[in-house]
Amino acid sequence: DAPLVVAIDGPSGSGKSSVSRRAASRLGLAYLDTGAMYRAATWWCLDQGLALDDTDAVAAAVAAMPLSMGVDPQAPTVHVGGTDVGEAIRTTEISAQVSAVATNLAVRAELGRLQREAIAEQTRPGSFSGGRGVVAEGRDITTVIAPDADVRLLLTASEEARLARRAIDVHGSADAAAVHATRDQVLRRDADDSTVVQFHTAADGVVTVDSSDLDLEQTVDAVLEVVRRVS
Ligand code: C5P
Repeated sequence: DAPLVVAIDGPSGSGKSSVSRRAASRLGLAYLDTGAMYRAATWWCLDQGLALDDTDAVAAAVAAMPLSMGVDPQAPTVHVGGTDVGEAIRTTEISAQVSAVATNLAVRAELGRLQREAIAEQTRPGSFSGGRGVVAEGRDITTVIAPDADVRLLLTASEEARLARRAIDVHGSADAAAVHATRDQVLRRDADDSTVVQFHTAADGVVTVDSSDLDLEQTVDAVLEVVRRVS
């Protein structure tokens, strides 16, 4: 069988990561979390004490970052040098600062290059997927990184649904106080990210899946249905 590349974009709280992981598992493909790469870059720069608005220093640091992404959808990993940063990149501190790094165009060029390489690698025999392919997920995969992907999907959800999901992720609850606590963070990050990448409306040829009224398994099924239909 020819390798399959599935590109999935969407805003934070759209359920992108969980859905993409499960879809990759069910399809027997590798899983590439490109948001984790921007988060790792942010962790790396902060670890070196860089000011994130020093665009040249940040770009140089990211170009020298020894990043390695584990693409098993059952247990994806992120290492920088010998350090497992899987948990450290999920803190609210990193979430609050990642857009400053992701809006650095030299950083986007460098991480974009690594992402294209990682995707191409999974189409070759001997890779993790055995050449079966990859589900790659982020904000600009359908448009910039893999515009020729076999399947291109935009995963959306209402603002209400996205805020509730993020509140559950961060606070374990979607009550009013928890939603309020995550609201500014989520909306500001999406607004900041939107200055350099467009992920709120589907580009030409990209299929939209709205998960507002679907649970995780239903969303995975909807994604797999699109994969079957268009691939
Ligand atoms: O998906 P996640 O919330 O982990 O992404 C973290 C951040 O990485 C986003 O807020 C955005 O700034 C950046 N990102 C990006 N392009 C991608 C994936 C993520 O700019 N393809």
